[in-house]
Amino acid sequence: MQSEADIAEFLSLLNDAREHVSYFKELGVEGAAKLAQNTSPEPQSQPISRSETSTTTVVISAEPAVPSSTSGGLFDDFNPPPIKIQRSSETFEEIWADIGNCTRCPLYERRTHIVHTDGNRNARLMFVGEAPGADEDAQARPFVGRAGQLLTKIIEAIGFKREEVLIGNVNRCRPPGNRPPTPEEALMCKPFLLREIAAVQPEVIVVLGNTAMRNLLDIKQGITKVRGQFQDYHGVKVMPTFHPAYLLRDPSKKKETWEDLKKVRDYLDATRK
Ligand code: URA
Ligand code: URA
Repeated sequence: MQSEADIAEFLSLLNDAREHVSYFKELGVEGAAKLAQNTSPEPQSQPISRSETSTTTVVISAEPAVPSSTSGGLFDDFNPPPIKIQRSSETFEEIWADIGNCTRCPLYERRTHIVHTDGNRNARLMFVGEAPGADEDAQARPFVGRAGQLLTKIIEAIGFKREEVLIGNVNRCRPPGNRPPTPEEALMCKPFLLREIAAVQPEVIVVLGNTAMRNLLDIKQGITKVRGQFQDYHGVKVMPTFHPAYLLRDPSKKKETWEDLKKVRDYLDATRK
């Protein structure tokens, strides 16, 4: 079994490796992603391609990469797959069949339902939260509780109907007591979300709150710093903003969220065909 110290060390090394790769990418060093990819001995992963214009190589592992707990060294056969989101023709049903009656992380133990991504599978706009709460766990649908009702209003405020957009979470099982999912739990679940994103190709993803943003985008900065600025996530435009549950606790922050969502609306208006 891994100790907490092992896991902490592993995460710190993982971050170092990521920073290293993104540093080289920032410098414009070609093949930085390839470099990381080439350290993968087994191409067990399933390539999902997105756009022809992307320069990085995108591979999303069908099975999430995890550190081996059986080998001598903790990192011996841990090769996080580089991620790029390319177009795929997978259906949600195929992706969900792979998820199955998932027991990949401890969150399965106390869930009632796995909460899959919901909504329009041709959506231009997607919203991603962190994990289901009690209402979502009971109804097997994302964002149906109080935060979800506020999210519906936010969606309508920028001129969309809820049914027109796609709504999901980085993690699909409810964490006990609604604690934030750990980075390890997020790593286990995220590949399935990425496969859905590759299948739908939304033009913009709005990521909701700090935990979801960090778990989706692998960035260290906080939501307060990053919100309102479009991020490029392997070819997909991502707008980080506050989580609706946070807005329920501090309604004064709705103003900032509105500013962020107006940028999304304006972008989608300008690119509408
Ligand atoms: N909060 C989330 O992050 N996701 C949901 O689905 C509901 C509440
Ligand atoms: N902290 C969070 O976790 N989420 C927010 O949206 C804002 C602050």
